[in-house]
Amino acid sequence: MIWDTHAHLDDPRYKDDLQSVLRNAELAQISRILNVGYDLSSSIRSVSLAKKFSNIYTAVGVHPHDASSATDETWDRLIQLSKEAKVLAWGEIGLDYYRDLSPRPVQKEVFIKQIELANREKLPIIIHNRDAHQDILDIVKKHRPECGGVFHCYSGSWEMAKVLLNLGFYISFAGPLTYKNARHTVEVAQKVPLDRFLVETDCPYLTPEPNRGKRNEPAFVREVAGKIAELKGISFEEVAVKGFENGEKLFKKSAR
Ligand code: NI
Repeated sequence: MIWDTHAHLDDPRYKDDLQSVLRNAELAQISRILNVGYDLSSSIRSVSLAKKFSNIYTAVGVHPHDASSATDETWDRLIQLSKEAKVLAWGEIGLDYYRDLSPRPVQKEVFIKQIELANREKLPIIIHNRDAHQDILDIVKKHRPECGGVFHCYSGSWEMAKVLLNLGFYISFAGPLTYKNARHTVEVAQKVPLDRFLVETDCPYLTPEPNRGKRNEPAFVREVAGKIAELKGISFEEVAVKGFENGEKLFKKSAR
């Protein structure tokens, strides 16, 4: 059993063949998928996917790219959605200073607002961080996510990872761990404790080797887990089981 803890199967790229993508996942023993929202409409789509497929769970939230589109109505609707049984987390939220699609002060304000909403709804958070290490750290130290959280598709240094682990966060690995230039991420995967990592695809993006360049899908999370096993010198099964258990610890509503 393997848990792909970050997917975007509501993406239009799956509109013609979602059933076969889910079948591939089942054949690859991906027993659970967490589909993550990035704005109101993707959060609504995620919740309906979870209603339709028993192995799909969801997170709802507004990505930093979409921060400037959020209104009071967005928050009201997301609060309602977050109460649904299969919504396990608030996300993905955070800061993205690489593409800067929303102004930085708005990104920060919307990130803090959603940490507060997650705390109110007793949900962990899924954090997107791109080139915003210091501001993210400052915010999560000051506005602590009370139900914990995960840094998804982690790409920072081991130095930063240590700080995050000390703050109680989980570290999630995606396709880039399998790329040739993944020196920092490789070091983090080698050193991260077995009880603090997750695996994910972030599909349709970031397809792991050897399928890099193709559309990503949950079945390919095996490549990420396999790479962690190789780097840690443990079995694939141990990575799969630990990753699943860690998911159940962080996303507590899933265990109910
Ligand atoms: Ni994502």
